[in-house]
Amino acid sequence: MQIGCVQLLEFRNYRALAWSPAPHLNVITGPNAQGKTNLLEALGFIVTGRSFRTARAAEVARWGSEAAILSGDLIRGETRRTVRRKLSRLEDGTWQTTGESAPEWARAIAFGWQDLEIVNGGPAARRNFIDGFAARLYANHVPTLIRFRQILARRNRLLQQRSVDAGLATRLGPWNEQFATVGMELLGRRRKAVAALQTELARVYAALSGARSKVEIRYRTALGEAAEPAALLAALERRQREEIRRGQTLVGPHRDDLAIEIDGVDARAFGSRGQQRLTALALRLAEILPVTDAAGTAPILILDDALSELDPTVRGHVLHEIQSAEQVFLTTPDAPVVDGAAMFHVNDGSLVPA
Ligand SMILES: Nc1ncnc2c1ncn2[C@@H]1O[C@H](COP(=O)(O)OP(=O)(O)OP(=O)(O)O)[C@@H](O)[C@H]1O
Ligand SMILES: [Mg+2]
Repeated sequence: MQIGCVQLLEFRNYRALAWSPAPHLNVITGPNAQGKTNLLEALGFIVTGRSFRTARAAEVARWGSEAAILSGDLIRGETRRTVRRKLSRLEDGTWQTTGESAPEWARAIAFGWQDLEIVNGGPAARRNFIDGFAARLYANHVPTLIRFRQILARRNRLLQQRSVDAGLATRLGPWNEQFATVGMELLGRRRKAVAALQTELARVYAALSGARSKVEIRYRTALGEAAEPAALLAALERRQREEIRRGQTLVGPHRDDLAIEIDGVDARAFGSRGQQRLTALALRLAEILPVTDAAGTAPILILDDALSELDPTVRGHVLHEIQSAEQVFLTTPDAPVVDGAAMFHVNDGSLVPA
């Protein structure tokens, strides 16, 4: 898919922008703090209906403004759908997002400096990554995740009562069943997502690094290879006393992690800064193929500052690799020479061809 004819009104530091991006590679340059990331955020917002940067709608409207409007044409072959979204401040001070939903084939994959967390942050960052990816593959992943979080919260509330009376086990019973069923569903889909990523990740990392280094990703859970709800149920029962004592659920997909290894060693503990950045980028680029298969069209690729901290050779490999993607938006403070790229320059919230 592609995005064309973008219009922004009062979005971040853009008062009014009308822009027709190129169908293939768009390189957006400009000094710091001029609006490069803001522009990418707007593109992601048009496609997915939310910001990859913040969950607070209030932040994205231009300061002092009561509303922001974004629109763009989402194009897939001969099909063209205009998606328009409006964020407005209501009288009670809260913000509301309205507008059409994007067609079900619309997908965007975004990479930004926050993604370094996937490699060097805590397990929650890796769970978010795999859930975000699974959501781009499987329509029912987000509803399952929401349901799982509700059950987990209810179960934890019961455990927090810490009353070891006989009634507690009875009250926990139905929640355990639901937790095991929905938890295993979530876990199963995450495992499938990891499997879908593995081969591409190894290929992309080798291509980007230019080395024969091998990157591997594995799903890590206390449940081992088990796939049946009964296994999770049994694990809950084994830990029940401890759970009551500590007032929280101690086994399940909310405690799982991903192992990410470069040549057999933990990327988080031993990877160089450049290797970690490259691994994070490779994880995003590895999403492209499985997401294309799932959506029936290639996603747009939004790469914020994807070249920084990389040496010139590796930068060259990155630029080469993204040539084969469909539509790409790449920001960088300096202007690299890229074959066939449309170049744009951002300055204080306005965009001009460079
Ligand atoms: N809601 C807003 N309203 C108006 N201006 C905003 C808003 N949010 C952010 N800005 C401005 O946008 C600027 C940041 O823009 P952006 O993050 O796009 O910069 P950038 O070009 O990506 O810079 P860098 O090269 O440092 O990453 C901030 O310095 C701020 O002045
Ligand atoms: Mg930026």
